Amino acid sequence: MICQEAIIISDRSLILAIETSCDDTSAAVLEDGRNILANTIYSQIATHRPFGGVVPEIASRQHLEQIIPVIDGALAEAAISLQDLTAIGVTYGPGLVGALLVGVAQAKALAYALKIPLIGVHHLVGHIYANLIEHPNLKLPALCLVVSGGHTSLVLWRSHQEIKMLGATLDDAAGEAFDKIARELGLGYPGGPAIEKMAGFGDPNAFAFPRAWLGKGSLDFSFSGLKSAVLNYLNNTKQRGDQIPIADVSAGFQEAIVEVLVEKTILAAQMHDLNTIVLAGGVAANQRLRESLRQKTAATGRQVLWPSPVYCTDNAAMIAMAAYYRQLEGDFADLSLNAIPYLPLEAFFKK
Ligand code: KG4
Ligand code: ZN
Repeated sequence: MICQEAIIISDRSLILAIETSCDDTSAAVLEDGRNILANTIYSQIATHRPFGGVVPEIASRQHLEQIIPVIDGALAEAAISLQDLTAIGVTYGPGLVGALLVGVAQAKALAYALKIPLIGVHHLVGHIYANLIEHPNLKLPALCLVVSGGHTSLVLWRSHQEIKMLGATLDDAAGEAFDKIARELGLGYPGGPAIEKMAGFGDPNAFAFPRAWLGKGSLDFSFSGLKSAVLNYLNNTKQRGDQIPIADVSAGFQEAIVEVLVEKTILAAQMHDLNTIVLAGGVAANQRLRESLRQKTAATGRQVLWPSPVYCTDNAAMIAMAAYYRQLEGDFADLSLNAIPYLPLEAFFKK
């Protein structure tokens, strides 16, 4: 009897994952690839807000201060000790190099001291795998629209061995555009949630801001023209001394981004004959994007899924989920694992 219990306990997979790629210090515990026992996030937003964006040097320093308390908090919430862990997962890129290094060094130290496997995770793969947290029966292949502060891509998530980029932004990421316009409108940082809130009071058709389609069949994106058009309008209006209709500008800007994201996602699903569409990344928390995508795909019978907002923005639970699947593929790192600020998505799977 005692022996059986011991076997059951030792069969339990408990992955501790660490995420420090930008301005969130996060640690999560995933049990058996299914249950998130803890997902502790220390957000640095208040620290960076006065600067209107993330200050890399300050981010690294805060990660250093917070990483141990955050890990301790996650272990306490999961009601386990370090000795119970069976593997350590960590984001090693892309991201801010100084920020990534804090997580990577911590993960390596823990894996070495506890003599358990280390798993390096690509940050965007983490965002994509966030979809499996609440949709464990999600069937692949699926099309994934990855929209974050640093990336905007359409990805063919073929299997746990292969991910293929179908298109990406040629200039700004969608989240970056939200942040920039929010700053100009005086809405603060981060811009996405602030613009979404303000857009709720405005008319999405009050302005015909430009949409960049980049030619028939293109799955790439460009948001720099839209950003310039909004900035030009704001500058001209200020120069004339006129009042800026903040709610209408927010609604019009959000509508222009959402329309391009939704149309290109549907086009990609049609071109590659994919019946499941998933969203990933911070901008995937946007309600207008979710509603519009679901509305426009309703007649096609395609399934559209997304993670809860807490799993859309940066968090370690998504890293733990991705680490679990890397573990199943036997994809482990050694202690030479290093932070890689520019890490292509496809290269991660071709190791
Ligand atoms: O994935 P994430 O937390 O960090 C990166 O990996 O970049 O994404 C952060 C980005 C920010 O640009 C933020 O403004 C945007 O996601 N964001 C949103 C919303 N919530 C966060 N954008 C639009 N609507 C939202 N509700
Ligand atoms: Zn992210």
